[in-house]
Amino acid sequence: MTDALIAPPAVEAPPASWWRNAVIYQIYPRSFADSNGDGIGDLPGITGRLPYLRDLGVDAVWLSPFYSSPQADAGYDVADYRTVDPIFGTVADASELITGAHALGLRVIVDLVPNHSSEEHEWFRKALAGGPGSPFRERYHFRTGKGDNGELPPNDWPSIFGGPAWTRVADGEWYLHLFAAEQPDFNWEHPAVRDEFKTILRFWLDLGVDGFRVDVAHGLVKEDGLPDVGSHAEWHLLGVGESPCFDRDGVHEIYRDWRRILDEYPGERIAVAEAWAPSLARVSHYVRGDELHQAFNFSYLGTAWNVHEQWQIIDESLAAMRTVGAPTTWTLSNHDVVRHTTRLMQAGEGEVAGRKPAEVDQEAGLRRARAASALMLALPGSAYVYQGEELGLPEVIDLPPEVRQDPAFHRATGQDGYRDGCRVPIPWSGTAAPYGFGPDGGGSWLPQPDSWAGLSVAAQAGVDGSTLELYRAALAVRKAHPALAGTDNLRWVPAPAGVLAFERDGAENFRCTVNMGDQPVAVGRPGELLLASGPLDGTPDNVVLPPDTTAWWSI
Ligand code: NOJ
Ligand code: CA
Repeated sequence: MTDALIAPPAVEAPPASWWRNAVIYQIYPRSFADSNGDGIGDLPGITGRLPYLRDLGVDAVWLSPFYSSPQADAGYDVADYRTVDPIFGTVADASELITGAHALGLRVIVDLVPNHSSEEHEWFRKALAGGPGSPFRERYHFRTGKGDNGELPPNDWPSIFGGPAWTRVADGEWYLHLFAAEQPDFNWEHPAVRDEFKTILRFWLDLGVDGFRVDVAHGLVKEDGLPDVGSHAEWHLLGVGESPCFDRDGVHEIYRDWRRILDEYPGERIAVAEAWAPSLARVSHYVRGDELHQAFNFSYLGTAWNVHEQWQIIDESLAAMRTVGAPTTWTLSNHDVVRHTTRLMQAGEGEVAGRKPAEVDQEAGLRRARAASALMLALPGSAYVYQGEELGLPEVIDLPPEVRQDPAFHRATGQDGYRDGCRVPIPWSGTAAPYGFGPDGGGSWLPQPDSWAGLSVAAQAGVDGSTLELYRAALAVRKAHPALAGTDNLRWVPAPAGVLAFERDGAENFRCTVNMGDQPVAVGRPGELLLASGPLDGTPDNVVLPPDTTAWWSI
C-alpha cells in the first residue's frame, strides 16, 4: 500500500454559521412575562419562560431594550447603557437569563441604541448644564437657530414621531432628535461617542450575549452641515429616497469597526441592522463581509399579499444579498408595525407605517397570516418571529387614548399611535386578564382584549391545528429537512394562477406552494405532504389548496 492510497485524515467541516438560517424570536420585555405583578414584563419573567421558547424550536431570542431609561420611548431612550432598568431587573438578572438560555441551546441578542440617548443620559445632562460651548454639547448636535433671534429650528428636518426634529433649550440653542425630544441624537463624528460604544459592545459581549440588534443603524452619520431635506421630508425619513440624515456612506466605517470587535469573541457573535435604506442594494451594504451579519428585510415586510409582488420581492431580496454573500433576513412583524394578522388584510396592505389599522375579519386575517408565516419560514435565510405571532395575535385597534404610551401618538401631527396595538402583553393561560402574563390580580400595562382567552399559550398547546402547533411543526421541519439547511437554494417552479411555488434542493428536495388567490386551486400531489397552514381539500392524490393556504412537501 502506498501513501497515495491512504485516505487523508478527515477534516471536520466547520459548522455552518448558525445565524445564516436561524429563526430568531423577538421578545418585547415589557409585554412578555411579568414575574412580580407590577403589570410590566421583566427579565426574570423571560427567564422563567425560556423552556417555552426552546420547545417552540427557535434558535435565538432578540430582546428589545431593558436598560436604565425613563421610558419615554419604551426603553429606546437609554440613560445608562450598562445598567438594567429596575422595572426589568438587574444586570445579575440579565446574566442569569443569558446563562439560562445558553443551557437550553438558545442564543441571546440584545438591542443596542446608538443613534440617540435619553435626555437623562449623563452626557446630555452635562451638555445642558454646561451651556453653549460645553464640550459635552459636541457629543450631540447642538446648534443656534435660524431667524432674527434664533427662534427657528436650524434646519427643516422633521422628527419621525411628528413635529420638528429640533428642540430649543433654555439658553436658546437647539438640539437634534430624529425621534422624540427625549431622545437627543449623538454626534458620531465625536471620537468619545465612537469609543463609548465600543466599550458598551464589549460590556455585553463579556456578559455572554451572542449579538446585537442595532437600532436605527442607518441614522448614525449625518451629512456635513446638516442641510435641509427640502420637499418630501417625510419620504426622506422613511428611507424611500436619499436623505441627509439617513443611510450616509459614513456609517459603514462604524460597522467595520464593530465587526472587528465581534470577531474577537468566540462563538460567532453577530449584529443585525435595523436599516430603513431606500433600496435592497443599499441595505446589502450593511451586510458586506466585513460589516454586520444581517439586516431586516423591511421591503419584504411591506409587500402586498399577491403572487406577483411576493415573487418579485423574494427574488430581488435573494439577488441583492447574494451580491455580498449574505443571507436574507425575513420578518413579517415587530414591535413597530401593525401585526401581520391584521396588516395583510388591509387595503394598502403593503404599507407598514403611518396609518391607523382598520378592523378586519379576524378569521380571514389569521388564515392569511398563517399562510404568510409558513411561506416566510420556508424561505432560505434567517427569519425573525415577533412574540405573539406564533399565537396568531391580532393587532389591538381599540386601545383607549389614555392607556396609549407610544410617544408618536402623543406628538399630534405624527404617526397614528399604531405601535401600542402590537405591544399588548402576551396571554399565557387562564380565562381572564392578565391571562397568566403576571400573577393574578397584577394587571398588564396595556389592557388585553376579552377575546384573548382562546389565543393563550395554554389554550393552543397540544391542540391540533392551532397556530402555536403550526409554528412548532414548521420549526421542527425546518430543522429536520435536508433542503432547508441551505441558505441560497431557492428555485421557482411553474404553478397555476394565484399560486406561488418554489423548490429547494437538498439530499431530498422541498417544495412550498402558496395559494394567494381567492379561489381554491388543485395542485396534485407534488410529494409527501409535510405541513399545511390550514385545512386542505381534495384527495391525497390531488390536493386542493383553499385560498390563503400554504403547503410544504418533500419530493
Ligand atoms: C426603532 C425602534 O424599533 C423603535 O421602537 C424606536 O422607537 C426607534 N427606533 C427609536 O429608537
Ligand atoms: Ca414586572
